[in-house]
Amino acid sequence: MRTFDICVLPGDGIGVEVIEATLPLLEKVQQGFSLRFREYPAGAHHFKKTGEALPDATFEAARRADAILFGAMGWPEIRYPDGTEIAPQLDLRFRLELYAGVRPARAIPGVPLPLSDARAGEIDLVVVRESTEGLFASRGKGVVEADQARDTMVITRRGSERVHEFAFRLANKRRKLVTCVDKANVFASMAFFRKIFDEVAARHPGIEARHHYVDATALDLVRRPWDFDVLVTENMFGDILSDQTAALIGGMGMAPSADIGERHGLFQPCHGSAPDIHLSGKANPTACMLSAAMMLDWLAERSGDAAPQQAARRLERAVDAVFASGKVTPWDLGGRDGTRQIRDAVLSNL
Ligand code: NAI
Ligand code: MG
Repeated sequence: MRTFDICVLPGDGIGVEVIEATLPLLEKVQQGFSLRFREYPAGAHHFKKTGEALPDATFEAARRADAILFGAMGWPEIRYPDGTEIAPQLDLRFRLELYAGVRPARAIPGVPLPLSDARAGEIDLVVVRESTEGLFASRGKGVVEADQARDTMVITRRGSERVHEFAFRLANKRRKLVTCVDKANVFASMAFFRKIFDEVAARHPGIEARHHYVDATALDLVRRPWDFDVLVTENMFGDILSDQTAALIGGMGMAPSADIGERHGLFQPCHGSAPDIHLSGKANPTACMLSAAMMLDWLAERSGDAAPQQAARRLERAVDAVFASGKVTPWDLGGRDGTRQIRDAVLSNL
């Protein structure tokens, strides 16, 4: 029986709370495989205490583990001298080359949705956010002069090719439609991103490839989000659009994600540390639970062992059943069932 080493990084604020709600579920679904969890410190509060945001020992453990399960990191009042925030999740993406930020948005029956159109229940799309370059290549390198400031967008052939390939492989397992989201009408870097998309598309004749400008995409994600399958886009665009797609399915507390590279995978809810609800018991743990299911799928794919994949389906069905039964979280969705109630309900469905 295969054992997978999981590096757990709860981090700050509600990151700790949603991880606490998710680990018991992962304990319960281990059938035909096992998971060994080890927790490590990192994040804004750790930085405040020690001067280190991502200790070497934590990074090494993350690098060696079979997968990384991550809560949330960052705290608005804790900052570097240049005014930016502590964000080890960005360091991990760059250092482990987690180039594909996979952010599914699937409407779960029973969850109140912001769009009143009957088709809103059909929303089932994935934003693939390039996560190692784009405008974020400028992180820590921006130039501030007396009268102007500059950040530079970097798009490489290698970075684009691998994320487009990833998007096409993903679409092949889904509805076989990929939309490249860019601003190729204005920026040379974006025209380059699109050109490489077209080259990769030519290698996948069985998959429909479309283009859409990022501004029009923001519009159509509200007008007709059910028409999208896989969207692939630059880092900054993906950062923004994936918050929008999270809103379509009930908010950040419902939106899972995976940061995938050639060798490593990190799984985390899309949301941050939510200082406004920290310790209130109101954090919605669903996004973290669904991220854990994505982790199980990825472990299954990597190892060729089907058991974690079966566990992922059990976990997803147990989450869906909780919302089908009328349970709804208080802060984000206007219900009355907090972190612990959702955890207990999912546990009993397992
Ligand atoms: P946030 O995602 O923490 O919160 C935005 C809003 O959504 C807040 O009103 C919050 O209460 C609500 N919310 C978020 N997750 C929720 C959940 N599970 N259940 C119910 N409501 C939820 O984003 P914000 O406020 O912009 O950032 C707070 C801190 O988190 C900052 O320090 C930021 O840098 C960090 N951050 C970290 C991320 C990560 O670790 N990947 C991602 C985004 C922000
Ligand atoms: Mg963001």
